Amino acid sequence: MERQWWHQKTAYQIYPKSFYDSNGDGIGDIQGIIEKLDYLQELGVDILWISPMYLSPCADQGYDIADYYQIDPRFGTMEDMVRLLEEAKKRGLYVLMDLVVNHCSDEHSWFRKACQDPDGAYGQYFYLAEKKDGRLPCNWRSYFGGPVWEPLPGSEDRYYLHVFDKKQPDLNWENPRLRREIEDMINWWLDKGLAGFRIDAIINIKKPLPFTDYPADREDGLCDMGEVLKHADGIGEFLGELRDRCFRPHKAFTVGEVFNLPPGALADFMGDNGYFSSIFDFRQTEEGKSAKGWYDNRTPTPDDYKRCCFESQRKADGIGYLSNIIENHDEPRGVSHYLPKEGRHEKGKKLLAAMYFLLKGLPFIYQGQELGMENPVYQSITQIDDVGSRDEYRRCLEVGCSESQALEVVSHYTRDNGRTPFQWDASEHAGFTKGTPWLAVSSDYRTINAASQIGNGDSVFSFYQKLIRLRKDETWKETILYGETVPYREEEPNLMAYLRQGEDQTILVLGNFSGEEKRVPFPAMGEKEASLLLSNDQAEIGANEAVLSPWQCMVIGFRRQPE
Ligand code: GLC
Ligand code: CA
Repeated sequence: MERQWWHQKTAYQIYPKSFYDSNGDGIGDIQGIIEKLDYLQELGVDILWISPMYLSPCADQGYDIADYYQIDPRFGTMEDMVRLLEEAKKRGLYVLMDLVVNHCSDEHSWFRKACQDPDGAYGQYFYLAEKKDGRLPCNWRSYFGGPVWEPLPGSEDRYYLHVFDKKQPDLNWENPRLRREIEDMINWWLDKGLAGFRIDAIINIKKPLPFTDYPADREDGLCDMGEVLKHADGIGEFLGELRDRCFRPHKAFTVGEVFNLPPGALADFMGDNGYFSSIFDFRQTEEGKSAKGWYDNRTPTPDDYKRCCFESQRKADGIGYLSNIIENHDEPRGVSHYLPKEGRHEKGKKLLAAMYFLLKGLPFIYQGQELGMENPVYQSITQIDDVGSRDEYRRCLEVGCSESQALEVVSHYTRDNGRTPFQWDASEHAGFTKGTPWLAVSSDYRTINAASQIGNGDSVFSFYQKLIRLRKDETWKETILYGETVPYREEEPNLMAYLRQGEDQTILVLGNFSGEEKRVPFPAMGEKEASLLLSNDQAEIGANEAVLSPWQCMVIGFRRQPE
């Protein structure tokens, strides 16, 4: 694996609508991000991925783009965006935007023109088809529920394809003219000074054609897109073009959101000559998820969590550098999902932080994660805004859950969990806005907020600062960045332990996911001496073992003492 400048960085995801509102309209904005750059610098992160801010009717929170060349007025103006890039640069921060090109919005001019003249050039930008024998062209189920086909407005007999919401028509990547438009747009943004992109839902751009039915997996007669995509072949042609015509000439950093990766394709996607610089590791976020719907999901245990992390580390070894997360804007808060209730306190949150952060790869922090933000508590389904969640709620009721059971399920998995406003301080609306926030602030903001944690050496925030600093530590960084991940005492329940094996030093990462003390003998280290690099508690390390208190983590470095 070739070494890259970004390997030594730490990345941070901003969900702009909920980060900081500078003008009191209840919606976070670009000026708000600019005002908080110093905060991000204090935390110590280097790369910022900002979720979409392009012109959008916001049917799916900006993941439905009406104009790729414009900033949505709710977030600000293009001048604001340019200023953000300048201000970021001054602070040595790199900015990634979100590249959403599997689909656009039904309010994009391309789609409008396609509706006006389905047989014209813009009709070819989308997938339009007619019914066959009175049936929809195929039985695929959209990710947000229901068939992927919707009648084309203004047309008698034609339908358009949308694998997400019906306000997100899929773009026809088979059409070279569409691909050239997308490339021009990407290059235009990279020329403005972006460091690169996070690339949305990209595996969906290649459809298995011609449209045909696959075996139905529910009573609705439809087939899950995950299954459908297994039959698609040849995405490499499209992605190779993007790499060669856009990303590589700009030396852009790109991280792909890639679900359902075909087996054996990891090197093609993120190897030295891969389509992307990196891809997110979603192995643990996928664990326990059921194709039947959220009602059938199972929350992973700490042992599941560790198994998933190790599995991904093994797969990526020698191939490339994964991007590691515990949450994002589509997932429950990591601390609410991976920590059992008894461990959901500051100590446990630091433990989880250390465990994923020190795996090999590029760590991403999702806004609020550095404060230990948790899933909010919902009283009613009406408090939930996300498009996908409503269908899952219906689905729960359909399979016989009571309303309160359905609310419990949806409360755990709704994408709104990560989307509530950032908790800046203990003032009204957590200091996020002077107006009324677009989505209610979580009720725990008086105890969990940035103001109470910054400068407090014991806070979750400070712990993240220490992790970020450790990644840059001159003595240990070579091993933290490139040491092989070797699982240790893998079979021991509720212990997550691994080595990062360097050439002449080793780092041992230990995490006790239980309410009992654990004694962990050290592996044989020859002449090397142990030193404690980080812990979330008072730490006792003996010559040959560590004693971990409940929910304690320790990061122990081994090396020969310099003469
Ligand atoms: C990605 C985004 C998600 C969005 C979807 C459709 O999964 O992360 O938020 O709904 O793509 O663009
Ligand atoms: Ca605003």
